[in-house]
Amino acid sequence: MKRISRKAFIVGGATAAAAGACLCTKTGRATIFGVGDTPNIAPDAYEIGEDKSITIRLDRVPELAFDGGSIKILDSNIDDSLIIVRIMENVYVASSIKCTHRGVEVEYRADDKCFKCASIGGSTFKTSGAKIRGFAKSSLKTYPISSAGNTLVVRLS
Ligand code: FES
Repeated sequence: MKRISRKAFIVGGATAAAAGACLCTKTGRATIFGVGDTPNIAPDAYEIGEDKSITIRLDRVPELAFDGGSIKILDSNIDDSLIIVRIMENVYVASSIKCTHRGVEVEYRADDKCFKCASIGGSTFKTSGAKIRGFAKSSLKTYPISSAGNTLVVRLS
């Protein structure tokens, strides 16, 4: 096994931190994890209304065609980045995708029916947004979401 000097380790960690990786530990030991792997919604699958509501066309979002599926919406025209999850048929959840510890993306874990931060801190949250455990100090922000036929509507305000 190749040994790495303390200096190289620290430089590598600082580089990763500058690139946006999360070094979530209480001890300061650096372990590097990236963002989550929730797929991005297709640009033509949603519209943002003047009231900042988001209307999603389900026929253009195959990821939400099955229970446990999820997508993310990262759009500079809205004030938050979102994760949308299909919990079960006609039951959806909309939440901020940013962990309240340091903002790393959370992912939906269908087996446990919860959100889990992709960083080593691994904070977990209920689908209501309530924190279960981890370094996060507060709950995830959630948003009202309704379904009607082929559309979902997320209310951001
Ligand atoms: S960003 Fe550190 S636990 Fe989520």
